[in-house]
Amino acid sequence: MAGIPKFAVFASGSGSNFQAIHDAVKAGKLSGQAVLVVTDKPGAFVEERARIAGVETFAISPSTFSSKELYEKEILQKLVELEVEWIVLAGYMRLIGNVLLEAYPSRIINIHPSLLPSFPGKDAIGKAMVHGVKVTGVTVHYVDAGMDTGPILAQQVVEVVAGDREQTEERIHAVEHELYTKTLQQLWSR
Ligand code: GAR
Repeated sequence: MAGIPKFAVFASGSGSNFQAIHDAVKAGKLSGQAVLVVTDKPGAFVEERARIAGVETFAISPSTFSSKELYEKEILQKLVELEVEWIVLAGYMRLIGNVLLEAYPSRIINIHPSLLPSFPGKDAIGKAMVHGVKVTGVTVHYVDAGMDTGPILAQQVVEVVAGDREQTEERIHAVEHELYTKTLQQLWSR
C-alpha cells in the first residue's frame, strides 16, 4: 500500500490496546498514523491516554442520537474530515452499523479476547473461566455486521490460569498488545 495509512481507534474503556498501538507507531514497529480516537463513553480513560499521546479525541454519546445511523453519520463526517483510511476497534463495545460498514468495506478491524467463534460478546474472559476451558486466546478479525464475527486475520492461544481471572486477563492483554500491532503491520504492508 502506498503511503502511511491514517487510522482511527475506537474504544470504550481503558484503551490499553490503543496505547500499545500508539507505542508501536512511535517505536517504528508499525507504519501507520493514529489521527483520531473515537469513544462512545465520554470520560473513558482512553481519552486521557489519547490526550497524553497527542491524538485528537472525538467523544460521542450514542444516547444523544435518535438512531444508530445518525450517530454513525456524525462519526463518519469526522473520519472523512481527517482522511481516515482504516478503523481499528480496541475495546469498542458496540456493533458497527451499515453507515460505517459501507464507508469502510474490509477496512474495519477488531480484537477480541477469545479464540473466536468461542465466547463472542461482552466478558469473553469471564465466560471462558466459567466454562472451565484450559486454553483461550486472542483473535484479530475483519468486522462485519455480526457480534465478533467476520473473517479471522490472526489468532494466538493463551493458557488459562485456573481459578485466577486476574492473571489470565494479564496474559491475554499482553498477547493482545503484541498481536494487534503485528497483524496491523502485516495488513498495512501488503
Ligand atoms: C480488550 O481485551 C479487547 O479485546 C476487548 O475489550 C478489551 C479492551 O481493553 N474487546 C472486546 O471484548 C470486543 N468484543 P483496553 O480498553 O484496555 O484496550
